[in-house]
Amino acid sequence: MNFSLSEEHIMIRDAARDFAKTELLPGVIERDNKQEFPQELVKKMGDLGFLGIMVDPKYGGSGMDAISYVLIMEELSKIDASASVIVSVNNSLVCYGLESYGSEEQKQKYLTKLATGESVGAFCLSEPEAGSDATSQRTTAIDKGDHYIINGTKNWITSGGRADVYIVIAQTDRDKGSHGINAFILEKGMKGFDIGPKEDKLGIRGSDTHTLQFNDVKVPKENRIGANGSGFRFAMKTLSGGRIGIAAQALGIASGAYELALKYSKERKAFGTEICNHQAIAFKLADMYTDIEAARMMVMKAAWDKDQGNNYDKSSAMAKLYASKVAMEHTVEAVQIHGGNGFVKEYHVERLMRDAKITQIYEGTSEIQKIVISRSLIKE
Ligand code: CAA
Repeated sequence: MNFSLSEEHIMIRDAARDFAKTELLPGVIERDNKQEFPQELVKKMGDLGFLGIMVDPKYGGSGMDAISYVLIMEELSKIDASASVIVSVNNSLVCYGLESYGSEEQKQKYLTKLATGESVGAFCLSEPEAGSDATSQRTTAIDKGDHYIINGTKNWITSGGRADVYIVIAQTDRDKGSHGINAFILEKGMKGFDIGPKEDKLGIRGSDTHTLQFNDVKVPKENRIGANGSGFRFAMKTLSGGRIGIAAQALGIASGAYELALKYSKERKAFGTEICNHQAIAFKLADMYTDIEAARMMVMKAAWDKDQGNNYDKSSAMAKLYASKVAMEHTVEAVQIHGGNGFVKEYHVERLMRDAKITQIYEGTSEIQKIVISRSLIKE
């Protein structure tokens, strides 16, 4: 067992750290205030290879491993979780899904642009009445021979208004339950594909979240991903990888808040000394650091499982469950350590606290992660 990062991994982490500090940090408060999508920064992240981190270079990707992916996700998320969720969804729900389950034609047509950031991807599973209960898809895809007709509504879609390529999960044969579900590639601008207003959110306000409406959208048969009826399994497998990305995002939010709290506690004085010298604060720092290190081990283990070709359904769910809990608890503590300043936007920790909450909700709530973990324990 080796707990050290390779030199290459350290270089990748440092490149992401440097990008986050020099490019993401300067406008992050303003983007959060204005709910502004980081359009130019997405392009820059594409140029750096952050949008197709694990994609084979023959499709325009960076050809890196999942360890590199989580290192990049942690560094970006320390500063700007709105930017990092765009990276996470594009990498693990869209690029990974297409590379693993798409046809060669689909990869040539879509993946090559998604991996370089020329296109941005969205993953559309959740519906008004099918969030955690993902098998209850109401969106329908009716087989018409050489094409499908798609009708329905998708909710809370990350990059919903800004994406170019949308992976849409829909029910083709209700009688077959989860085996009657398919995944399709849709393009922005297809007739009948409408984008609803942007959501006004508590956190990750720079990320662009929309409801999407499909009214008789005609989708060519070659845009179905995989065999007929394989869409639910496709969604579950891609989400397992997505959960590693969100776990790394939660880790980054927690470690970003911890670093700010540590720095502040060494500068701020009360009762004649820096507040880190008071046990009430010092013990908070000890708890934060310990829990963040434990979360980091779990995130790395899930990424390692993926790199080794092991099943990572359980380790990714565990990493997301734990890292998101640590992110929520310790961003609250970081605000507390900052006192009144923690409640003020310029100190960044209040934004990290708001951003932390979504990591317990999207790509499967914490309750869903417990279902995945417990089912896999019982099956083992
Ligand atoms: N790999 C392969 N197959 C899987 C699988 C996996 N990880 N998980 C389930 N399956 C298979 C099952 O084996 C089963 O197949 P059989 O019928 O052949 O046995 C089939 O899929 C149905 O599975 P379940 O019976 O377990 O289905 P369920 O109705 O009990 O639901 C669930 C399972 C885990 C709760 C699932 O519905 C789930 O993960 N829900 C949460 C959905 C979610 O994460 N949504 C996030 C939205 S995306 C998002 O947030 C993106 C964003 O923009 C940030």
